[in-house]
Amino acid sequence: MDQALNYNYKIVKQFAIATVVWGVIGMLVGVIIAAQLAWPALNLDIPWLTYGRLRPLHTNAVIFAFGISGLFATSYYVVQRTCQVRLFSDKLAAFTFWGWQAVILSAVVTLPLGLTRGKEYAELEWPISILIAVVWIAYAIVFFGTLIKRKVPHIYVANWFFGAYIIAVTILHVVNGASIPVSAFKSYSVYAGVQDAMIQWWYGHNAVGFILTAGYLGMVYYFIPKQAGRPVFSYRLSIVHFWALIFTYMWAGPHHLHYTALPDWTQSLGMVFSLVLLAPSWGGMINGMMTLSGAWHKLRTDPLLKFMIVSLSFYGMSTFEGPMMAIKTVNSLSHYTDWTVAHVHAGALGWVGFITMGSIYYILPRLAGQTKMWSTRLIDLHFWVATIGVVLYISAMWIAGVMQGLMWRAVNPDGTLTYTFVESVKATFPYYVVRVTGGALYLTGMLLMAYNTFMTLRGRATTVARIPALTAAH
Ligand code: HEM
Ligand code: HEM
Repeated sequence: MDQALNYNYKIVKQFAIATVVWGVIGMLVGVIIAAQLAWPALNLDIPWLTYGRLRPLHTNAVIFAFGISGLFATSYYVVQRTCQVRLFSDKLAAFTFWGWQAVILSAVVTLPLGLTRGKEYAELEWPISILIAVVWIAYAIVFFGTLIKRKVPHIYVANWFFGAYIIAVTILHVVNGASIPVSAFKSYSVYAGVQDAMIQWWYGHNAVGFILTAGYLGMVYYFIPKQAGRPVFSYRLSIVHFWALIFTYMWAGPHHLHYTALPDWTQSLGMVFSLVLLAPSWGGMINGMMTLSGAWHKLRTDPLLKFMIVSLSFYGMSTFEGPMMAIKTVNSLSHYTDWTVAHVHAGALGWVGFITMGSIYYILPRLAGQTKMWSTRLIDLHFWVATIGVVLYISAMWIAGVMQGLMWRAVNPDGTLTYTFVESVKATFPYYVVRVTGGALYLTGMLLMAYNTFMTLRGRATTVARIPALTAAH
């Protein structure tokens, strides 16, 4: 009997569906706040719908609900297949699913109510924060427990990346989450002043490094070789860039605090480590791209590979841009402007979004006992609509960002400012409208994916044993 039947696919399926559903919701909120920036009256004068409350709802929904559900789904799938054993505990795995949904629903309720710790990406108040820690420990037990009982001697590199992401998030969450509760829904950080800022951005940048990067590199190392039908280009490079990446990321946080009260040497240290970070980042990007050597022609016809390879291009682009923005003189122009938002979304939409979509499209039919998604043409359409969406979003924000930075620093010969702030806001308006359009296209792609997912899961199952990928080594 095919051992695939012994894997716990139910949990993978639950998280895969959650990824798609939360993707739609998180991106919808993104489009709403993008529209509010262009037309502020869209908050309808209702406190729960104001920009300040919906913005953290967007970031939490896309990173923690869409992003992390995708990582749960893929890590549970990959760890079982590469270790050739069922998950360590079905009950604990089920707990991680329902516990994580409870975390997300709590965020959906408390953030619009204005209950927040006020730390970006760590907004959720202490009771929810404790729940996150409990779920995460259960996740670690399931993941590492599965690794321990593996039937193959080797730990495949994708699991190194997933493992590093799970361990790092535990440490980051606990250290940055340390707070003193003063009531059921209010707490204050145990750190004060500049130390608080330092801890916050050590957390913030490593959330980028370990959630938005290492976790998704785990997907790269499993799903790209699988879909391309080629081995990883250089296994040695994958291990070298793994260690270099996780070591370097830990020190780069201060680039978020240039020209602040943080000691100057610390800022410079953050800048230098950010520049060094280009090398291990590109190591991963090049390794992923080169895995396709000999199979480039497949890009013409395979929309899953298109998602995956374009995702790597965006990864390469944003990890080139990031180190440049970390240079203090460049940051003096980019900081506070929409350039940062362009950088974020080149990474978030292009890299994180695309690799997640490619990987979930790979998994879904296999979970439904089908040989492929319900409609390949819809996947292709999704790819093109989303690509145009990202390009519109980020180019509008790049132009807006550089324009804002230049307008704010322009001075007349007598030393007075050339432009008032509101003039820069006015000049940004058309770009905000372009961003709404780009965001709406990206959301449309996600809706196409939701429809395709629904139809695939609804379809009649073919026998599992006939699916070649399920009977392959892993
Ligand atoms: C339809 C797609 C999306 C749209 C229209 C959208 C729109 C927005 C808008 C308008 C903001 C606020 C920018 C500002 O404060 O000036 C924002 C912030 C943010 N979004 Fe999105 N977003 C989308 C998808 C995503 C996805 C998929 C992710 C992550 C995987 C993401 C991650 C973020 C992050 C991290 C921020 C905070 C950026 C910062 O503080 O600099 N977004 N988004
Ligand atoms: C070599 C890799 C990278 C470096 C050195 C880097 C560097 C930077 C810098 C300098 C900023 C602006 C800080 C500021 O002025 O406040 C920034 C912001 C940001 N980057 Fe990157 N970046 C890298 C890769 C990525 C990737 C792959 C993503 C994935 C989505 C990402 C997500 C973000 C986010 C979310 C922010 C906004 C944080 C905030 O202010 O809320 N970065 N990054």
